[in-house]
Amino acid sequence: MSREWTKQDLRDQSGKIVIVTGGNSGIGYEASKALAGNYATVVLAVRNVNKGREALDKIKYEFPNANIHVMKLDLNDLESVKEFSREFRGKFSSLSLLINNAGIMAPTQRITKDGFESQFGVNYLGHFALTGLLIDLIIKTPDSRVISVGSLAAHNTKPEFKNFKGTKKKVSLLQSYAQSKLACMFFAKELQYRFRAKNIDAKSVACHPGIVQTYLFGKGSGKLNKRFTRASLKLIGQSAELGAYPLLYAATEHSIRGGEYIGPDGRKGIKGFPTELEILDELFDEHVSNNLWILSEKLTGVTYKF
Ligand SMILES: NC(=O)c1ccc[n+]([C@@H]2O[C@H](COP(=O)([O-])OP(=O)(O)OC[C@H]3O[C@@H](n4cnc5c(N)ncnc54)[C@H](OP(=O)(O)O)[C@@H]3O)[C@@H](O)[C@H]2O)c1
Repeated sequence: MSREWTKQDLRDQSGKIVIVTGGNSGIGYEASKALAGNYATVVLAVRNVNKGREALDKIKYEFPNANIHVMKLDLNDLESVKEFSREFRGKFSSLSLLINNAGIMAPTQRITKDGFESQFGVNYLGHFALTGLLIDLIIKTPDSRVISVGSLAAHNTKPEFKNFKGTKKKVSLLQSYAQSKLACMFFAKELQYRFRAKNIDAKSVACHPGIVQTYLFGKGSGKLNKRFTRASLKLIGQSAELGAYPLLYAATEHSIRGGEYIGPDGRKGIKGFPTELEILDELFDEHVSNNLWILSEKLTGVTYKF
């Protein structure tokens, strides 16, 4: 990127059907608002429908003609992911953008309903299953994209996707978070590789928001609910609106080819404007990624039908 990209650069999104997981809060909310404000039809896929409706009302207050829907999706429970996919198919026949944004960090609940380490389960496996269950709609929709949200936390970690049951006592909550985010980033590259191998027009792109002042570090995340963390975030982080820029750039920019990793261009990637990063190519391991895919199909029971 040679100049600063902002939401003013967002083009008209008319005709696009978009799903934003965790669209009620933080980065997902800001992205949903920007896309709905630019005429996309946006589905807020949320675990708490009341919170979803509140977000819908807020967006409608700003953009009265916005076309927004709220649908229940609990990534902590694979049955809920299946139910969401069934319900979505009943309402829509295409899917232009699947934004796999929802996430938890250092939660108090350690295991998902299906028995996975909860960050690996919610942040990664739930999205793996969701994408697989909707893949035919994504493939048949022209110019569609799948966006995966990574994290700076994954930049200094090595792929060790072995603690998916959360049984290894020596692995800390934050290490598990980093692994779950690295899995999302590997998934984005692997999906793009598989699209290309099958000559599929859809694109898969990863991004990370930098460090952002959201509930991730607060309410939603038991262990890190500390005044100190929130104060430091205010000091070093950026707003959720700016944190949504890499995601919006990955989701809408015409120059995107698929397989990129987009993040803020500022010092240490903490804040700034969207730019393409090389770090994911450095971290990526084809063999590990392919094994992770096979494992994920086995764990979720969702097989991708390309
Ligand atoms: N904030 C940062 O500095 C930062 C840095 C790197 C990456 N990220 C990533 O950015 C993404 C968005 O996070 P955020 O910072 O915007 O935090 P946030 O405000 O806490 O938003 C997280 C969203 O995920 C939803 N969610 C949590 N568990 C879910 C589940 N089981 N099923 C469905 N939805 C669920 C939350 O729903 P509720 O509102 O009901 O809790 C909320 O809507 C996450 O993937 C996070 O890992 C954030």
